[in-house]
Amino acid sequence: MDKKSILFVCLGNICRSPAAEAILKRHVEERGLAGFIRVDSAGTGGWHIGELPDARMRHHAATRGYTVDSRVRRFDPATDFAAFDLIIGMDEQNIRDLRDMASTDEERAKIHRAIGYCRRFTGDTEVPDPYFDGAEGFEHVLDLLEDATGGLLDHLVGKEVVNK
Ligand code: 4NP
Repeated sequence: MDKKSILFVCLGNICRSPAAEAILKRHVEERGLAGFIRVDSAGTGGWHIGELPDARMRHHAATRGYTVDSRVRRFDPATDFAAFDLIIGMDEQNIRDLRDMASTDEERAKIHRAIGYCRRFTGDTEVPDPYFDGAEGFEHVLDLLEDATGGLLDHLVGKEVVNK
């Protein structure tokens, strides 16, 4: 298997994308694939650079055994399009923003929707921003991301992804 690099992108890089990063990293480690798959996350917005992720997301993720402790950084089109094989947005605005920043077809082809890798939550159309939601919103995001990262990992190791 070739080494693959995955970048999850949301708006703030404090809720959805750092959670996706933590979940996929744990799956990767559990399956002994740490040498083959590199995972990172970034935000299209720049409000929280250098901070830890949102305390509510850290708490909800921790109850499922995930440590969400990456530092917030902003997506950098000048370096990130070249540095990653897959750039995975959470909602339609993320996808639009990423496409606006892409300057070649090759860069645009790297952009995908997280929800497209889901196998259980096939009726959902995006991973919604939980920032103004209560606990249920964070739990729902984690449900979606566990589903999506599992599908993504199977896709990377060569199994068929059903809802894609
Ligand atoms: P995220 O959630 O994109 O999942 O990290 C958000 C976090 C912060 C803001 C918006 C969304 N904000 O407007 O500060």
